[in-house]
Amino acid sequence: MKNINIFYNSKKGKLEGEKIKYSTTSLLQSSYIYQQKDNLNNLEKIIYEVEFHDNDVTEGDSGGLFFGISSIYPGKVGKEFHMTKGHKHKKNDTGEYYWGLRGIGKLLMVFENNTYEIQDVFEGSLHYIPGKTAHRLINVSKNKLSVGACWQSESKHDYDCYFPIRVIENGDGEIEYVNCST
Ligand code: F6R
Ligand code: MN
Repeated sequence: MKNINIFYNSKKGKLEGEKIKYSTTSLLQSSYIYQQKDNLNNLEKIIYEVEFHDNDVTEGDSGGLFFGISSIYPGKVGKEFHMTKGHKHKKNDTGEYYWGLRGIGKLLMVFENNTYEIQDVFEGSLHYIPGKTAHRLINVSKNKLSVGACWQSESKHDYDCYFPIRVIENGDGEIEYVNCST
């Protein structure tokens, strides 16, 4: 393998160099996760993006690792803060590390037994997501939230997950957790 010519530019908050791939998720692509599904404006707007290191490893192969930086733009859909769709790993015993790079957010983890935990995400925070755990990131700030992630190449993603908690801004402008049955 060649030397890696890639780095995280912390001032700009982005990966720079060679072999970087991007994926974006618009409101249109993720509107189904929000409780408010009607009267949505600007469906083309990008809610979050992932910058990947393109390391030539094939998804589904065992033994490799993937690295990506997930960034969620600030904002809300209805009362709910912008968030990732959230998923479990198809190869369900594979875990993952997340670590905060910038911004303020929450990591919602729903474990195999349906209990959940919400961790504060901030610059320098470290999060271990065990296997069999659904995970979703939420941006609760007015700035971009960026998080590094490293996971196994055999993990793959299963988006058919249930998240029992929503993170909203209440009428007093405070962050609030609400139970959700859908
Ligand atoms: C990889 C991982 C992250 C997410 C990314 C986007 O296992 O957890 O790279 O894939 O934050 O979130 P989702 O995949 O839920 O749309
Ligand atoms: Mn994951």
